[in-house]
Amino acid sequence: MRDNFNTSFGVLVAMAGSAIGLGNLWRFPYLMGTNGGAAFIIIYLVLVFLLCLPIMMSEFVVGRRAQTNAVRAFKVLSPKGRWGIIGILGVLASVALISFYCVVGGWTIDYLVHSVTFSLPDRGSSEGFFAAAVSSPGRTLLYTYIFLALTALVLLAGIKDGIERYTKIMMPLLFLTIIIIAVRSVTLPGSGAGLDFLFNPDFSKVTANTFLDALGQAFFSLSIGCATILTYGSYVKKNEKIVKMSSLTAISDTFFAILAGLAIMPAVFAFGISPSEGPGLLFVVLPDIFDQIAGGGIVAVLFFFVLFIAAITSSISLLEVFVTFLIEECRMKRRSAVLASSGVCLVLCTLCALSGGVLSDVRILGRTFFDLFDMVSANFLMPMCGLLVVVFVGWKMKREAFVDELSNGGTLKNRALYNTIFYIVRYIAPIVIAVIMVFGWL
Ligand code: ALA
Repeated sequence: MRDNFNTSFGVLVAMAGSAIGLGNLWRFPYLMGTNGGAAFIIIYLVLVFLLCLPIMMSEFVVGRRAQTNAVRAFKVLSPKGRWGIIGILGVLASVALISFYCVVGGWTIDYLVHSVTFSLPDRGSSEGFFAAAVSSPGRTLLYTYIFLALTALVLLAGIKDGIERYTKIMMPLLFLTIIIIAVRSVTLPGSGAGLDFLFNPDFSKVTANTFLDALGQAFFSLSIGCATILTYGSYVKKNEKIVKMSSLTAISDTFFAILAGLAIMPAVFAFGISPSEGPGLLFVVLPDIFDQIAGGGIVAVLFFFVLFIAAITSSISLLEVFVTFLIEECRMKRRSAVLASSGVCLVLCTLCALSGGVLSDVRILGRTFFDLFDMVSANFLMPMCGLLVVVFVGWKMKREAFVDELSNGGTLKNRALYNTIFYIVRYIAPIVIAVIMVFGWL
């Protein structure tokens, strides 16, 4: 019999755990920093709640209705045609994502180890420290592999005894810790400029690319377009409420992103640093700041702990997509599927991990492997997969089937809402995703 999530709380923390991740803490701050601060947040919020939430529900519907892996789900729901390609895109997106995700996850372990042993760099030497962490092959590979191995260990235990059990412990800890850090950050002298940056929009920095970045970030952060919601949905019982679960997931993900902004930006501004530092913001700027504030050593431990938990609860959901696929399509036992999928990811992670050092001169489309996997997954594979999911749900699946799933077979009465969601999925979502993709790419 197929494994399942046992409780509603288990489903919620697993979905929120999948959504809340490096995207909130590492990607969101630097995208916000380069795209006009609060202006980016406003565009992002609109995209999340009006567009991406219905897409998330669509993935959930497909997964739960079909009760199978991403590729077969589309074939089950529409035996004629080649809709299985959507699932293949989703599996590819999750594999591409996890390939660079584990590298950043590895840096978080590296920094956590150094913060626990109070050996983070002193002020002024964080850039060199980060460069060494990224470029030294032994060090970056070691931590990347540890992160991947920990992800695989949780998955070996399965859905109920692995994913559900561990995320139930990790997610409350995650929220508690980020709140402590945010309070410390906003109480620093000079933090007002950071709050201003977070809450006062600067629309002059907004370009067509801002919309693509915001859309890519919304997909990345909500874990949509990479079949994770679909796969988790396939393990969810028929009496769980899809609209409620999806909305709570989007709300907690957004709430966490704002908390992460409150934890990071006021501190960044308090020390007169530019918010557009780029991906190194967390690993270069913050250690410098921790070195200068009272109790910074403890804050550093808490911060890298948060980063690690957020990362691993997402990576398990990403790898599970491939694991479920292998179990059901290649008839593997869970143990073999976890080993095989980890093996594939290990090779790709190695390429990404070495991008900061020995492979830094190897470029495809002008990008290192690391940047290529990030760009291809967030700006192409995920929006593309999301686009095809909404086309499938809006045009191929019958409205009655969609509403039936959202209303749990008619037991939940909110037909107007379900119809509205369906029409967003059918008309608005495909057009908006396509337009943003085309303009962004141009
Ligand atoms: N949703 C995950 C994140 O935001 C992938 O990091």
